[in-house]
Amino acid sequence: MAIGSREVTNHTSQLPTRTQVAIIGGGPAGTLLSYLLHLEGVASVVLELRSREHVLGRVRAGVIEYGSAGVLRAAGLGDRMDGEGFVHDGVNLAFANKLLRIDFGGLVGKHVVIYGQTQLQKDLYDAMDREGIALVDEAEQIEVHDIETTTPRVIFDKDGESHSLSCDYVVGCDGAHGTAREYIPSTVSQTFERLYPFVWVGLLSETPPVNDELIYANHLDGFALCSMRNENLSRYYVQGSAEDTPEDWPDERFWEALERRLPTEAADRLVTGPSIEKLVTPLRSWVSEPLSYGRLYLAGDAAHVVPPTGAKGLNLAISDVVYLASALSDFYTTGSTTGLDEYSATALSRVWKAVRFSWWLTALMHRFSAEEDFDRRLQMAELDYLFSSEAAQRAMAENYVGLLL
Ligand code: APR
Ligand code: PHB
Repeated sequence: MAIGSREVTNHTSQLPTRTQVAIIGGGPAGTLLSYLLHLEGVASVVLELRSREHVLGRVRAGVIEYGSAGVLRAAGLGDRMDGEGFVHDGVNLAFANKLLRIDFGGLVGKHVVIYGQTQLQKDLYDAMDREGIALVDEAEQIEVHDIETTTPRVIFDKDGESHSLSCDYVVGCDGAHGTAREYIPSTVSQTFERLYPFVWVGLLSETPPVNDELIYANHLDGFALCSMRNENLSRYYVQGSAEDTPEDWPDERFWEALERRLPTEAADRLVTGPSIEKLVTPLRSWVSEPLSYGRLYLAGDAAHVVPPTGAKGLNLAISDVVYLASALSDFYTTGSTTGLDEYSATALSRVWKAVRFSWWLTALMHRFSAEEDFDRRLQMAELDYLFSSEAAQRAMAENYVGLLL
């Protein structure tokens, strides 16, 4: 059988050839979607480019919004998060050697859970294994066909042979470097982008965290963030220049910069040690609209990326797939496509609010220019306002713990 110009060579493999929903990408978006669909009785197959070992080894942010934690619990995926994660009732902003605690509990009656995306990804893979949900790893050269018809197909290579998977719907969950969004014609699709002129240098160390809650610091030398994974695993970040590489930041330079950027009361408690991982993350934001075309839908980083300030990326992936799972389930139970038709607008309305919050927190906390310019004065005025206004703190708390899904 030839599909387009490509020959399907394997007609006898054990791999599925037909499903209801083909999901491209086995990150948090793709695997959670497949699991939520399974709970609704909808069959799916996840096609993941990389090996399981690679996917489970990626270190990413670890702030689970209040609503995201609720979604995971309701799906029966919250046990390890609740056992090993940390409930945080507040977050701290540092400026001019002072610390301001944003009291989530007192201001909005909610919290976040600190739980690494690496752990959540393992929980999702374990749950899929338990339920026997199909995941094909090392699926290469994925192509999507016929999304403008009711019988789309995905073809892919596995172990050197080509396979075809026919389905009712295709969901692109293949992350920022994926190709699914390219199937939306350029006449229909639009990308909105903001690049920031700096990077985050991140370090993981087996040391006790400097504080029991996160600290986001604005300092003349640049931004710093203190986060954590557990009692003896700290995650720290400092703002670096756009062209920096991890080699530009030997441990000693990193620790010195971090210590200098923290208020004295925190810096005095900082315990340093050898890094066990160091990476450089560019800061950018983009949204590709719309999130659907024909029978193709996009979710998570495949459709939008936010800077890590505020840790919204994973939470947006979760809200996208909650909307999509419910819309697909409606279609299979009632035949209604209303949810699917509205998916793009519904998800984008939440996405843009998180894009706005990530942009606001990035603009508030980073050093943009070495000069004392107009923008720096505005930044200082806004921090001053936040330090003195409960209304401003409440707005920050409401966004940080996550807007309603
Ligand atoms: N074919 C199949 N899979 C692919 C392809 C492809 N062409 N390209 C990429 N992938 C896989 C990647 O290997 C990855 O496992 O898609 C998956 C996408 O996962 P993520 O990048 O984790 O994106 P997503 O699931 O949307 O989760 C968003 O991840 O990037 C972070 O900060 C972000 O926390 C947020 C979360
Ligand atoms: C992290 O723990 O890695 C983290 C926390 C908060 C952020 C970004 C990253 O805003």
